[in-house]
Amino acid sequence: MADQPLPRVLSGIQPTADSFHFGNYLGATRQWVTLQDEFEPFFFIADLHAISVEHDPKKLGERTRVAAAQLIAMGIDPERSAIFVQSHLPEHAELAWVLNSLTSFGEARRMTQFKDKSAKDGEGSASVGLLTYPILQAADILLYRPQYVPVGEDQRQHLELTRDLAQRFNHRYKKTFRLPEPFILKETAKILDLQNPAKKMSKSGSSPSGIIDLLDEPTVSAKKIRSAVTDSDSVVRFDEAEKPGVSNLLTIYSALTGRTIEDLVTAYDGKGYGDFKGDLAEVVVEFVTPFRDRTHELLEDGDRLDAVLHHGAEKARAVASRTLADVYERLGFLKARD
Ligand code: TRP
Repeated sequence: MADQPLPRVLSGIQPTADSFHFGNYLGATRQWVTLQDEFEPFFFIADLHAISVEHDPKKLGERTRVAAAQLIAMGIDPERSAIFVQSHLPEHAELAWVLNSLTSFGEARRMTQFKDKSAKDGEGSASVGLLTYPILQAADILLYRPQYVPVGEDQRQHLELTRDLAQRFNHRYKKTFRLPEPFILKETAKILDLQNPAKKMSKSGSSPSGIIDLLDEPTVSAKKIRSAVTDSDSVVRFDEAEKPGVSNLLTIYSALTGRTIEDLVTAYDGKGYGDFKGDLAEVVVEFVTPFRDRTHELLEDGDRLDAVLHHGAEKARAVASRTLADVYERLGFLKARD
């Protein structure tokens, strides 16, 4: 069916840390890998978004490379997927400007992520970039006219804004954008902090012992699993309200092995937390060890990795530049002479 184009999926992830963690992987990027089979995928590193809060310019470039290497090590295949860096395509910032002009101030300000992130130091000192962050995200998406956008639950509101802006543009000018649908996997959408299972595992909110980085030393990750907070009885059972710590470990266990939660609960019936955590620690080590090796191999050949990203950017540009040209034409901009 070579002449039947596959529907597209698109997603992005920020290069804000030295490694992805289990929350990023199990909650989001793992799904990207399977989507490659049935869709035409566009996956990118959202480095423009990463500067909406203070960042370290000495680290950003390397973190971008490490993020790309990890995506490939996870199974994103650069032959099938366009994998690229957001800042390599000026079209993203250009469409964002157009959409900025279509978004009301109140609409941007109502976004819960903006409210959360600006609450710490007060709205007055948050960057305007933090305010317009979801509008740039809308541009990222709409440029590629994807059918689905796989993201975590926390991004749902940004997807709604994206659809609103697409509709507004289509209505005000001419039908140009496809309305994308969020693709949110419920079961694994939330991996919790190992030390504080009331909170999500996150780079900004978790202590080092609450978070497992994919590039951590495997023995360190094993130790973190063994010292994860559980509760005072010793029954391995899935109960998010009463036993959030154990339930979180069951989720991780199930996600890494493909075994169902029920199967795991049965297998650990009558055994204590020690056995359960010990086995999960092994599962984690078996997963992260080859993953780290592959990532490091990819990083050793920096030229090759950069070539892959160049190739990805070319594939992306072929689509993005056409969409932007349509947008400019519909807005009535004077066409530049060739
Ligand atoms: N905001 C997303 C996050 O933090 C990252 C992102 C940026 C994104 N642009 C996107 C995700 C476009 C999906 C589509 O997870």
